[in-house]
Amino acid sequence: MVELKKRIASILESPTADTDDKLKKICQLLDQEIEYFNWTGFYFRNGDKEELVLGPYVGAATDHTVIPFGRGICGQVAVSNETFVVPDVSQEDNYLSCSIDTKAEIVVPIFKDGKNIGQIDIDSHSLNPFTKEDEALLQWICDEVAKIL
Ligand code: SME
Repeated sequence: MVELKKRIASILESPTADTDDKLKKICQLLDQEIEYFNWTGFYFRNGDKEELVLGPYVGAATDHTVIPFGRGICGQVAVSNETFVVPDVSQEDNYLSCSIDTKAEIVVPIFKDGKNIGQIDIDSHSLNPFTKEDEALLQWICDEVAKIL
């Protein structure tokens, strides 16, 4: 975890990459290093509109490039301001499926100046895979990412 954090910090510090490049590299690194992270991406609030738009991601293409607040796991986090861990997506009524292979999901909000401006979203092909360490790592990433936004 310490090593992974160092690599993420160095991506964020890169003087040459732009913000989207950095976010994409973080997705790639997480996708490579954590085998049960099978779709990793960012969503951001679309200006003042109550909707999220898809940002950089790694994984299968998704139909959910725009998600209204309140819809799906992502849309719920946009209004709850809280991390949402879903160990088994089949148990959720308010869930937007991106892939039939997805069994679990975690969404962690990103706060900038106290405002919920977006989130990191991870889908897994394994049931109940996410640990407290994953949650802490993702929260740390969201805090670090917020600093460059
Ligand atoms: N499953 C999400 C939609 C986004 S995809 O996972 C990429 C949701 O329920 O909001």
